[in-house]
Amino acid sequence: MNEPQVEPQGALQGAARAPKSAMPSTSGMATPTASPRVTAGARRAAPVTPRQLVIAKIVVFMASLYPLARLILFGVTGQLGANPIEFITRSTGLWTLVFLCITLAVTPLRRLTGRAELIRLRRMLGLFAFFYALLHFTTYFWLDQWFDLHAIVKDVIKRPFITVGFGAFLLLIPLAATSFQAAVRKLGRRWQTLHRAIYAIAVLAILHFWWMRAGKNDLELPQIYATIVAVLLGFRIVWALLARRKAARAA
Ligand code: HEM
Repeated sequence: MNEPQVEPQGALQGAARAPKSAMPSTSGMATPTASPRVTAGARRAAPVTPRQLVIAKIVVFMASLYPLARLILFGVTGQLGANPIEFITRSTGLWTLVFLCITLAVTPLRRLTGRAELIRLRRMLGLFAFFYALLHFTTYFWLDQWFDLHAIVKDVIKRPFITVGFGAFLLLIPLAATSFQAAVRKLGRRWQTLHRAIYAIAVLAILHFWWMRAGKNDLELPQIYATIVAVLLGFRIVWALLARRKAARAA
């Protein structure tokens, strides 16, 4: 997904604002008034007050902690099932995917609803995707493999579903590390290119899930998530093509 016309996702970003020189006008991080694409094709919604935005951020933050709270509660009350490690691995894996999808949904939602403020929630959602990925990987690395580096390397090489999951996780790290304003300023346009990796991450995450469940002949959930990711990426492709056509007509 290296199309310049595709609206940059900046998935682990959103709250931080890039300097204008660093971001082209198509930036997903543009302010409501700075980006004509924000409300294109959608009714302009009433602006949200700073207080409402703070409340929204607190609500999203608390809600994003639900998967962790649930795991802790299940752990304390002995409800993690016969295989607690498998339960935690699967739960954190699935929530990573859920947060990736929610993060990818911000831009289409913003454009369809005209709610430019949604972008202010994107960085937090992206960082929660990373947080759950880190828990997922830590569960595997620690509880499943007991820090056995040799066994882990062997596993990553031998099992394709682990290989792609590992690839997705590795790609997430630089996005999380550069999701802050100082990094946006420092990287300039390169930041945007880097954050497009979110599309590859989503595809690798689906492959990881698909491959893992294919071995168990249970593809229902991977098919649902694959459809969601395809729709979310499809939105961007369609918008990019429309923008390109419009630009060609104007030229
Ligand atoms: C962005 C990164 C990742 C995402 C989105 C992700 C997502 C998932 C999902 C959705 C599942 C299946 C959950 C279920 O069956 O309900 C899963 C399972 C699993 N993942 Fe990941 N994963 C990621 C990275 C990794 C990494 C880096 C590793 C290890 C190196 C890993 C190892 C596993 C293992 C061992 C399972 C469970 C397999 C089983 O129970 O048989 N994943 N992951």
